[in-house]
Amino acid sequence: MSAPDTEAERPEVSIPLPETHRDAMRLGDEGYRRDSPALFAELRRRHGPVAPVLLAWDVPAWLVMGYSELLQVTSDPDLFARSFRRWNLFDDLPPEWPMWPLIGGGFASEAMLYTEGEEHRRRSVVFAEALSRIDQWEFEEFCQRASHRLIEEFAQDGEAELISAYAQRLPVLALGWMVGVPEEYHDDLVTGFLQLMGAGGDPIEGMARVGAICDRLAERAMKESGPYVASHLAHSGLGLTHEQLSADIFITIIAGHQTCAGWIGNTIRLMLTDQTHTNALTRGRRSVTEAAREVLKDDTPTQVFAGRWAVRTTQLAGTTVQGGDMVLLGLAASHQDPLFRPPGRPGERHHSRAYLSFSHGPHGCPHMARAMAEIITVGGIESLLTHLPDLHLAVPADRLRWQPQVLIRALETLPVTFTPPTISTDPLGDSLWL
Ligand code: HEM
Repeated sequence: MSAPDTEAERPEVSIPLPETHRDAMRLGDEGYRRDSPALFAELRRRHGPVAPVLLAWDVPAWLVMGYSELLQVTSDPDLFARSFRRWNLFDDLPPEWPMWPLIGGGFASEAMLYTEGEEHRRRSVVFAEALSRIDQWEFEEFCQRASHRLIEEFAQDGEAELISAYAQRLPVLALGWMVGVPEEYHDDLVTGFLQLMGAGGDPIEGMARVGAICDRLAERAMKESGPYVASHLAHSGLGLTHEQLSADIFITIIAGHQTCAGWIGNTIRLMLTDQTHTNALTRGRRSVTEAAREVLKDDTPTQVFAGRWAVRTTQLAGTTVQGGDMVLLGLAASHQDPLFRPPGRPGERHHSRAYLSFSHGPHGCPHMARAMAEIITVGGIESLLTHLPDLHLAVPADRLRWQPQVLIRALETLPVTFTPPTISTDPLGDSLWL
């Protein structure tokens, strides 16, 4: 969320601010954008594992940064539930509140993501089935082809801006193939996602732009059956309404797109700027898969996730959370917890996959989706390393800027230079859709 713009556009609404949040730090302001890990460290120093924070328009929430507290919150949906309809501010916030698109507002309110209990269980089983019907080998081959095609577009230039030319585009091609989104919609989807995440432009307009596309996709999926996720969901026997299907299509694409785009960008940044990651990724010290998982521990794109709502008043690490309060998952901050990262024993965490980037518990990222995310990200990084092995940053590392949004940590731009390869990057030919 771009703080100055959203504050300027704040209408006259009175949002109750509890005493606990009077001097709370704000997520999304300039300091957060410059260095969110430092802000999380400061919050932990001041408040411990659970901190009061403010979102756009000074909306109060609790940020859970303790590793074991985060496991507790995500493992107990009876106490920390998923539906934003439980929020004690639900009736106070007008539809223009810029973070609604990220929390359940607009056409996405019917998505599986915000359901609870038996309804969530039924829909997530069907979602897992829909993903498992995608042929993993075909998907991997498609991703390889897509990455080659993208690299080919800029390979002879000797320079590129990798966020817009690669990190944002590879996942939309991959998700588009998997979910069933014709390529004519891809550019509009990427623009809409960035808008609604708060990374540029008006979030509400971004939501409307993406909503219109998802409506069309849902309509098509209801009418025809095909080997893609939207069609599997439409014909699953669950009896999803048009609104539910459209919302599930939206969540599937955005949950995969924004996260994979951030993961690819953050991996390339660390590879170019941090010796440990350079060794891991380019000197064969580890497989690219292991090296990319290390990035999830050191610089996860999912820095904060919204969220959970306390079902009743409870204690969390000594902090009183009122029933109906919003609880944000501080996924990146939990990786700074000494429990996760014991001081002075850095080697010990290397083989651990206990990072919380995909969250945890019944609402965590579906396991099949995690595997597909690795195919997109790891395959994308491998292609870059193979075809452009001498990538260099084109600007000093301290000139790189983070997107002005709260939830995802992703670079605005990543300019690089390299030696143009002498042979074609795509030995299989030009066509993506063989
Ligand atoms: C192919 C790519 C991906 C797809 C299709 C996908 C899909 C999904 C879906 C459908 C959900 C909602 C689950 C539910 O409501 O039960 C979800 C949740 C989530 N995903 Fe993914 N995802 C992908 C990649 C990623 C990546 C790369 C990350 C992080 C590195 C990630 C992190 C998360 C998180 C944090 C949640 C929220 C869980 C919670 O509320 O506890 N996802 N994802």
